[in-house]
Amino acid sequence: MGAQELQRVFRTFSDPTRVRLLALLEREELAVQELMEVLGMAQSRVSRHLAILREAGLLHDRRDGTYVFYRLATDQAAIWNQTWALVKENLKGDATAERDAAALVRVMESRAARTRSFFDSVGPEWDAVRKVFNDDALRARAVSRLIDPGLKVADIGTGTGILAIELARLGVSVIAIDHSARMLDAARAKIAAEQGLSIDLRHGDVSALPLSDGEVDAALAHMVLHYLPSPGDAIAEMARVVGPGGRVIVVDFVSHQNEWMRQELGVTWLGFSADEVAGWFERIGLLDYNRQEHEGLSSGRDLPATFIASGRRPS
Ligand SMILES: C[S@@+](CC[C@H](N)C(=O)[O-])C[C@H]1O[C@@H](n2cnc3c(N)ncnc32)[C@H](O)[C@@H]1O
Repeated sequence: MGAQELQRVFRTFSDPTRVRLLALLEREELAVQELMEVLGMAQSRVSRHLAILREAGLLHDRRDGTYVFYRLATDQAAIWNQTWALVKENLKGDATAERDAAALVRVMESRAARTRSFFDSVGPEWDAVRKVFNDDALRARAVSRLIDPGLKVADIGTGTGILAIELARLGVSVIAIDHSARMLDAARAKIAAEQGLSIDLRHGDVSALPLSDGEVDAALAHMVLHYLPSPGDAIAEMARVVGPGGRVIVVDFVSHQNEWMRQELGVTWLGFSADEVAGWFERIGLLDYNRQEHEGLSSGRDLPATFIASGRRPS
């Protein structure tokens, strides 16, 4: 390590705005707009400091349609990690850092609130909206991974309960969860119309599932991840609620460019790359990772490819 490199490290960390940015981007992957909101700063200032941090190799960026999201890189040279650890240690109890952390919580909550209000306004009409997905085949593939009767499965983000009902018909014991009261009402009505079918409906958020540790044999999120503020954290929460050897299964879109889905379907993310999904499963130690991709189904509109990814909690 030369003196020049050392000087560069300290120069980079010497600016308080850059330190605030790094502290936020270590917690969450954020867009410039969200960083502006948390820091209360203009775009030019935020972008200038992001450029310096990126140049130093401290940030990773990821494009999601027309948005770019940033997060702290974890693969930089040791001196950067060591210096950052020192800076962080000295930020404990810092009033600005605490204000930023609180503002970040509000930004993340507003991501979730946007989704909830979208589904609260759509309610039972979702069944008509979702026809655009033409996804019966997709659903059947996901279901076929779980058909062992007697299994206890959490259908997370159950929506109008279509998948939960299919599973229950197969003899699976289903706990169906959603954070939108209106979607749950729609699911309740649909389940009531099914003769003798019993499904445990629970109101709750993926970030803190209304399930105890290891309560189910499998947790499934079908077309839900692309609505979540922090999809990787959701997978970790799903892993918490499955017992040893239990499965976590997600079905979602592969990265795509269909910006219309943001406006018309209220999605937060335009799908996910294979590396991203594998990283989430790997980070929390799920085994037997498997991911299969399926071509986008056509329904008069270009639909993105989908994937089914699964992993197993160690026994
Ligand atoms: C696209 S729908 C999918 C519904 C169902 N899984 C299906 O495939 O038919 C997404 C569902 O996830 C729910 N959802 C979104 N974010 C959620 C969260 N943070 N916690 C719980 N449910 C959520 C929405 O309310 C909505 O019902």
